[in-house]
Amino acid sequence: MPVAVSITDEILALKRERNAIILAHHYQESEIQELADAIGDSLELARKAQKFEGEVIAFCGVWFMAETAKVLNPERVVVVPDKDAGCSLVDSCPADQVRAFRKKNPDHAIVSYINTSVEVKAESDIICTSRNAVDVVNSIPAEQPVLFLPDVNLGNWVKKQTGRENMKIWQGACIVHATFLARKVVEARARYPEAVIAAHPECPSDVLRMADFIGSTSAIINWCATAPSDDVIVMTESGVAHSLRKVAPGKRFHFVPNENCNCSECPYMKMNSLEKLADSLRTLEPRVELSAELMERARLPIERMLALK
Ligand code: 13P
Ligand code: SF4
Repeated sequence: MPVAVSITDEILALKRERNAIILAHHYQESEIQELADAIGDSLELARKAQKFEGEVIAFCGVWFMAETAKVLNPERVVVVPDKDAGCSLVDSCPADQVRAFRKKNPDHAIVSYINTSVEVKAESDIICTSRNAVDVVNSIPAEQPVLFLPDVNLGNWVKKQTGRENMKIWQGACIVHATFLARKVVEARARYPEAVIAAHPECPSDVLRMADFIGSTSAIINWCATAPSDDVIVMTESGVAHSLRKVAPGKRFHFVPNENCNCSECPYMKMNSLEKLADSLRTLEPRVELSAELMERARLPIERMLALK
């Protein structure tokens, strides 16, 4: 009788066969994170992709992250388990509108959040992530006007941190973080009066005002490990609970549901599954395919960001 092979064994065997690496964002399902060679925030995963020397990257995250990995690895195959794993921020910022802005405002430096399409990256001067957005904006000469795109909440927070007046901000938003309500954070704090609050900068400003710490997904996880309370209210996608349980097993983490779905999950990130990951390693589809010319134009602003410490 044939011995049943588990899906995880199958993925590990396919990974060896394909000389592949599995990269997973913190918002992926726990079972995917358990199998990954690296888990990280957008910046860490872009750096991992930059250093990769094998043949296939299986990117368990959303499409724009995989596009970034492809731009940094034009000769390698990059697959995403589900081709529909998108992002509301990408959808909020069409490349033709960015081109039109550039035409009208040639003096502006365009700083694009990594949560943009590769076409928008190709129109940008420099890319940033939530982890380095303040440093990236500070790297632009003070007298040069800036367009920050597309996340309005991250943009407003960066503007406040840098004190930069000459910065225009696109009006895009994340369907998960932008729908967290300050009222629900107040309710959570009443339930856990000793709790401290960590928040992702894509949250609205009234939520950020209540936070003891603001940072990227990995920065939140690192801060929580030594947070000055055993109760932490965590204002980001609940996939980070996987690493939080590992770095701080004695602490209690409380996630606040957003107004739309009464959960704190990204529907795009959750499209990936072990079954789809196995399929993508077997068939090498869905695969990111981009023209050499587009990758060339998008690489410069990404590399400018990666060159910053
Ligand atoms: P990080 O760069 O903090 O991982 O954020 C990515 C993201 O999509 C947040 O919603
Ligand atoms: Fe995009 Fe928001 Fe999902 Fe992050 S959590 S991938 S910003 S929709």
